[in-house]
Amino acid sequence: MKHHFSSRGAGAKRSAIRELLKLTQRPDIISFGGGLPAPETFPNEELAEIASDLLRNQSASVLQYGVTEGSRTLRQAMLEWLKPQGIEATIDELLVTTASQQALDLMCKSFFDPGDVVFCGLPTYLGAVQAFRLFQVDTAGIPLLDDGMDLDVLEAQIADARAAGKTLRGIYVIPDFQNPSGITMSLEKRKRLLDIARREDLLVFEDDPYGKLRFAGDSIPSICSMDTEGRVILMLTFSKTLSSGLRLAVMLARGDLMDALVRAKQPTDLCTSKLTQMMAARFMNEYGLDKHLEEIRPVYGAKCAAMLEALEKHMPKDEGISWTRPQGGLFVWARMPEGIDTQEMLELAIEKKVAYVPGAAAFVDGKGHNTMRLSYSLATPEIIDEGIRRLAEVIRETLEAKKAGADD
Ligand SMILES: Cc1ncc(COP(=O)(O)O)c(C=O)c1O
Repeated sequence: MKHHFSSRGAGAKRSAIRELLKLTQRPDIISFGGGLPAPETFPNEELAEIASDLLRNQSASVLQYGVTEGSRTLRQAMLEWLKPQGIEATIDELLVTTASQQALDLMCKSFFDPGDVVFCGLPTYLGAVQAFRLFQVDTAGIPLLDDGMDLDVLEAQIADARAAGKTLRGIYVIPDFQNPSGITMSLEKRKRLLDIARREDLLVFEDDPYGKLRFAGDSIPSICSMDTEGRVILMLTFSKTLSSGLRLAVMLARGDLMDALVRAKQPTDLCTSKLTQMMAARFMNEYGLDKHLEEIRPVYGAKCAAMLEALEKHMPKDEGISWTRPQGGLFVWARMPEGIDTQEMLELAIEKKVAYVPGAAAFVDGKGHNTMRLSYSLATPEIIDEGIRRLAEVIRETLEAKKAGADD
């Protein structure tokens, strides 16, 4: 039978990471692949108690449909949590979504027509790239420096795109411990990015799953907290701060931007699960999200330190090999010498029972073949050391094979 597919759907690609995750579920493989939160950070006892109470005593409400905008109790709890972070909003400016991936989908549905230009990092979050592709958005990649996007390049690309008569919509940015690079944007750059957006009349889509997972250094105010015009749309997921299985995020948008998002969400899923919304709300009100975050930060800090130590110890010292040293989040980003293709190298890595995410899929310009993302969230420090030892062996063998090939 021959099937018809929409032109939109036909252009979409499966996520290389999600495909890889299937493979790395094999217990003998040490996987630095998936960007999953550490399960030991889940407050399972507390959530079990809350869920049981909700199901026993509020079943008529939590097992029912909810309003599209989301539970008022959860949005109120989020408003109070955001206030000390310098973000003032009203309850109507918050929308609960079925985690941030849905927020990205709603963002594309609401604001972009095919061919519209969005600026994003080089590299950037693969799930956002997938959403942009599905909606036929024209993505313009901006290289990341140690302190975030190269804003000179951003300005030059804006000028070029305007000169080419394109419609520019916004800038997608993950300022803290970016996925996949682990890079954090400096305060100066956050201010300048907002100035550029103001001058060029662009929206800023600020995606912040990792900002609260800072285990070293001082936190930097969000771009949203500096926005006085309602130009920034903020996406805050609970996936890494509480549990990814709850599938919950909150999106902050002002005025008619919010109205468009609500209209996009209604035909998507009517509403996000009332049960998980109430679980998160009760957790925030009864236990406190900040208190929980204080407990889980050191877990990631220890794992990150173990990975950085193992990289120092095991990695070949060849020129061209480098990696980032994040102060929070889940990811280290490693660069191999030019000519090494991390996608090709993955075959040998799987053979040696270690896995990572090849970087190329996170580059909208088709480059980045010599990069990889290493997530330290799942393994223990001992396993991390063994995994990096195996990875270093893979890299050493690949470099030697390449040298031997060049000598032939
Ligand atoms: C930058 C970024 N945005 C969004 C998401 C989506 O997360 P979720 O749908 O679980 O909220 C992720 C997940 O890894 C991410 O890294």
